[in-house]
Amino acid sequence: MSTFRSRRDQFDLPEGITYLDGNSLGPLPKAAVERGRRTMADEWGPMLITGWNKAKWMELPGRLGDRIGTLIGAPAGSTMVGDTLSIKVYQAVASAVEMRPDRKIVLSDNGNFPSDLYMADGLLKSLGKGHELKVVDPEAVADNITEEVAAVMLTHVDYRTGRIHDMKAITDKAHAVGALMIWDLAHSAGALPVDLAGCKADIAVGCTYKYLNGGPGAPGFIHVRPDLIDQVRPALSGWLGHQAPFAFDLDYRPGEGISRMRVGTPPVIQMAVLDAALDAFDGVDMNDIRARSIELSERFISEVEAGCKDVELASPRDPNGRGSQVSFRFHEGYAAMQALIARGIIGDFRAPDIMRFGFCPLYNTPDEVSHAAAALCEIIATGEWDRPGFKARKAVT
Ligand SMILES: Cc1ncc(COP(=O)(O)O)c(C=O)c1O
Repeated sequence: MSTFRSRRDQFDLPEGITYLDGNSLGPLPKAAVERGRRTMADEWGPMLITGWNKAKWMELPGRLGDRIGTLIGAPAGSTMVGDTLSIKVYQAVASAVEMRPDRKIVLSDNGNFPSDLYMADGLLKSLGKGHELKVVDPEAVADNITEEVAAVMLTHVDYRTGRIHDMKAITDKAHAVGALMIWDLAHSAGALPVDLAGCKADIAVGCTYKYLNGGPGAPGFIHVRPDLIDQVRPALSGWLGHQAPFAFDLDYRPGEGISRMRVGTPPVIQMAVLDAALDAFDGVDMNDIRARSIELSERFISEVEAGCKDVELASPRDPNGRGSQVSFRFHEGYAAMQALIARGIIGDFRAPDIMRFGFCPLYNTPDEVSHAAAALCEIIATGEWDRPGFKARKAVT
């Protein structure tokens, strides 16, 4: 039993709802409401454009980057917040292939989030230099890291199954052949301990609306290893990544350090909300979060499997091999998830047949986990899912 103390009181969770989808969109931190209000009423309203200086809005991307850095093992000054994760993926791949001009392969796997693959493929086609995006099975990644590979680009925790890649081993393998290593931490940041510096990862990217609770559309982040950043030529050379944005030079000169990965004007209100959301992690040891997350996910798996024979575990059975989510396959997974949601238990669905359940120790409790497991078993045993209303697919699943 972990000694983790829930911070549930810090979140505005609707009465009667069991929320197991913080791996997709974190819930509303109470402090974010007040911070958003203050940013608008006390800063934007009275300060108008002077807020950029008076309220230090311009410093938010780097300050938030440092706060996230503490959760992912990145040293201060090596992480920048901004744009969307897809954009950060583009920046990462563009920088990496340019740093390995003699190599033509970007290696990824078919467990990666499609947007990462789309962004990389689109970029490589635009470059028109004969690059190839090579996509292999997750288990085959290590064997395909060869001297032709410019960069290996992987999502650390698989968005569908929760399977974890061995960050240290794969990064070491990439470095052994002179390739660069890019990690997508969308399902890792705030979910489990990450040691970017210890693994010597070259570039990492992630989002802030999942386990970091920054709200819908919250910005992404990018980290570059400090000893590499001076070699990075930003492909998205926006004015705020310039060395002197307010000199308005006509020629681009990359900014100092990680500031060169900035692009344009930061979304101040969304960043202020994220700043308040990150307070929930103050004083929390990610190892404690991890221990509690394993306790919750183990409980869920054992109770679902004890009560229901018609679902199949899609996540690794070894808790050390999966992130902070558990996925079960069921032939009518979409309808079963809708039936759960109708009962106030919220997870989500990923095609073709995966029901996903995220466990966030900051606010999820063991009782909630048992409640959700019992409800899932009942819905499947009684056929409660088998109603037309539960089968009609909505735009967002
Ligand atoms: C692993 C991963 N990469 C990339 C993305 C795309 O992020 P965004 O929509 O913020 O660009 C997501 C979105 O959920 C994701 O899970």
